[in-house]
Amino acid sequence: MCAAVNRTAHGGNNLHVKCRNDTYPRSNIVRANVPDDKVDWKISFPEYKPVVYTSDSVKKKPVWADDDCTEKSFSPKWNEVDGKVDRRSFVCKYELTEEGVPRNPKGRTGIKERGCLGRWGPNHAADPIVTRWKMEGGKPVFKNGKRVAQFISIQRKDNGEWALPGGMVDPGEEVSETLRREFGEEALNSLKLSPDETQKMLETLDEFFHSGTVIYKGYVDDPRNTDNSWMETVAMNFHDENGSGVAKFSLNAGSDAVGVQWLDISKDLKLYASHADFIKKTAEHLGAYWE
Ligand code: BGC
Repeated sequence: MCAAVNRTAHGGNNLHVKCRNDTYPRSNIVRANVPDDKVDWKISFPEYKPVVYTSDSVKKKPVWADDDCTEKSFSPKWNEVDGKVDRRSFVCKYELTEEGVPRNPKGRTGIKERGCLGRWGPNHAADPIVTRWKMEGGKPVFKNGKRVAQFISIQRKDNGEWALPGGMVDPGEEVSETLRREFGEEALNSLKLSPDETQKMLETLDEFFHSGTVIYKGYVDDPRNTDNSWMETVAMNFHDENGSGVAKFSLNAGSDAVGVQWLDISKDLKLYASHADFIKKTAEHLGAYWE
């Protein structure tokens, strides 16, 4: 494992938990058990027998997925920008296993190969955290002396959990582009707008998404992670200070989302993957109420 990995990433005790000791998403595959003290690859664990699993949809080789590592034609450039695919990790220069595929820098997960993730190694996503101040009767709302902020949350189609309206960075795409595209598709249902409406929406979004603050960049404790494939994200905050820009858009769930709403920011939020950690950091950044 590369140095300092478990000191730097997501919250809690910094061990990944959502990709251990459960049934793998969208399958009946039960992960091999990995106790907390055996997550780190440096700790000997001779009994460890991860379940080998790559979903059928990944095996069919859709455009967003790599080839199987046994295919001779597959010769990726690990830890580099490989053609249009960015195979670099934000965490560190990852190591390769004896089969010659990337090894999860955060440790064991109980599953080897790719699960339902397309890429060996890091799978890059981007998450827009769009915020505004909560108002009631035209007045700001305070709790414990701090202003209450709200953020746009979508309900994921795959598991019903509330999450940020993020998505995967397409090959060759800039993260700034992914943030805007995913927000438009999932929170505004831009895929259903007329060309004129889309143009108007993009203009407002362009302006609003122009300046954001990076809240988090790195590994995500995502339930889809495996020993050889994992999620990483760049989460950025875009704050509508006086509620005159994006805060006025009417929200419409689309694409991979079945619901969308402004949620009050507080420590009681239960969100997908590491998203609650990102929201906590956003509250700190805005000086907003958290608890
Ligand atoms: C989601 C992002 C999330 C990432 C890692 C992506 O599929 O769209 O919101 O941060 O996975 O969990």
